[in-house]
Amino acid sequence: MNFRKINKKKSAYDNDIAEVLVTEKELKEITKRLGEEISCDHEGQELVIVCVLRGSIIATADIVRNIRPHCTMDFMVASSYFGGTETSGSVLIKKDLETDIKGKHVVIIEDILDSGFTLSLLRKELLKREPASLKICALLDKPEKRVADIQADYVGKVIENKFVVGYGLDYDEKYRNIPYVGVLKESVYSKSE
Ligand code: XMP
Ligand code: MG
Repeated sequence: MNFRKINKKKSAYDNDIAEVLVTEKELKEITKRLGEEISCDHEGQELVIVCVLRGSIIATADIVRNIRPHCTMDFMVASSYFGGTETSGSVLIKKDLETDIKGKHVVIIEDILDSGFTLSLLRKELLKREPASLKICALLDKPEKRVADIQADYVGKVIENKFVVGYGLDYDEKYRNIPYVGVLKESVYSKSE
């Protein structure tokens, strides 16, 4: 098999990306820095890293490889839903942690902090379980559309209010495998609308 030829082939997503927002190189630097920041704040402690599926899987995989204290990993699937008014939201946990986090130092890793509903509800839910500490790490932060009163303790990169895909983030479950973060062309949405 000629790998040079394979490398020249275009990926299925190449034509759908309008602009690269965070390059592979930058993501490597960001995840290294986030791992270092988390490590410094938790010297000598044992951590529970909570990966919020599915979007955070790639960021989590890269960040944990830069964490120096001992850590265990667990996974959650959560979605926020709102009955009646937007502010009376609650979080629907589709897959819960298997770890009892009582008395543990916990860091939630989320792919993107947007309106903030999901993370603020998730934080509220996990705080009920009485962890020793609870910190939030967001690879990307879109503060423009923030509604909930929440900030991440560790932020990878603040981005403008554009719909992004790649590096775990999806549109219609696709594009998660792109190695960088890019803005999806509008023609992709209009095709499926
Ligand atoms: P909130 O608004 O609760 O939601 O902070 C965060 C979740 O919304 C999704 N989200 C995005 N997904 N590109 C995506 O692929 C985006 O630009 C984007 N903005 C928000 C994502 O699931 C995130 O966890
Ligand atoms: Mg998500």
